[in-house]
Amino acid sequence: MFIEVKQLEKYYGEKENRKRILNQLSFGIKQGDMCVILGPSGSGKSTLLNIIGGLESIDGGEVNVDGITLKGASGAKLDDYRRDKLGFVFQSYNLIPNLTVRENIEICELLGDGSMNADKIISDLGLSEHKNKFPRHLSGGQQQRTAIARALVKNPKILLCDEPTGALDYETSKEALSVLEKVHELYKTTIIIVTHNEAISQMANQVLRLRDGRISKETFNEKPLSAAEIDW
Ligand SMILES: Nc1ncnc2c1ncn2[C@@H]1O[C@H](COP(=O)(O)OP(=O)(O)OP(=O)(O)O)[C@@H](O)[C@H]1O
Ligand SMILES: [Mg+2]
Repeated sequence: MFIEVKQLEKYYGEKENRKRILNQLSFGIKQGDMCVILGPSGSGKSTLLNIIGGLESIDGGEVNVDGITLKGASGAKLDDYRRDKLGFVFQSYNLIPNLTVRENIEICELLGDGSMNADKIISDLGLSEHKNKFPRHLSGGQQQRTAIARALVKNPKILLCDEPTGALDYETSKEALSVLEKVHELYKTTIIIVTHNEAISQMANQVLRLRDGRISKETFNEKPLSAAEIDW
């Protein structure tokens, strides 16, 4: 399995405040699949995504991603892992305000060995007419599209998205999801999307529902819908 999570345990806090956040979680994700993680606030979605992203430590069990064992990996190994394999997209776009769209994307082009061409991504993601603008002159949807392009330019095998549409209105959310769909088709990136939006799950190959740090339901879609087909 491309991403394999086995009996994962995560705790926060010390002594009497110690709280189990992830409880014996096990699942796998196939390479090239889109996986959506749903669940109530506080159920552990971001914690799980951050563990897969090498940003949080593992207290029990195992997480293996593309042959790399994350548990106990050194800081340097995790740095390499994040740089070589992962792209991140968050609810807040985190663009650099005094750089243009093109420059925001270009600085990440330098990070990867097998980076894609920034201009190709800009054109694939429909940003050509905005490439010389500063983030403050873009709509929320355009900023998120830029953030997606920036995450992708180093050609990561995996794109991790935490509430990518959380700050967007209904129409713009649809647009951002079409962009993710396009990325999935064009670059065959494995995509994990954490969201509160149930409708997004119709686009996914795999849907994980979390409740109190456990998987309450796992489903697979034989025929995922495209963003345009979903009745939002
Ligand atoms: N750094 C931390 N220290 C202590 N507790 C934390 C920390 N990060 C998260 N938690 C706790 O872990 C639990 C799961 O948090 P997490 O952020 O993973 O939930 P979530 O499902 O992403 O929620 P939301 O939908 O609100 O984003 C929550 O109870 C939260 O308070
Ligand atoms: Mg969260």
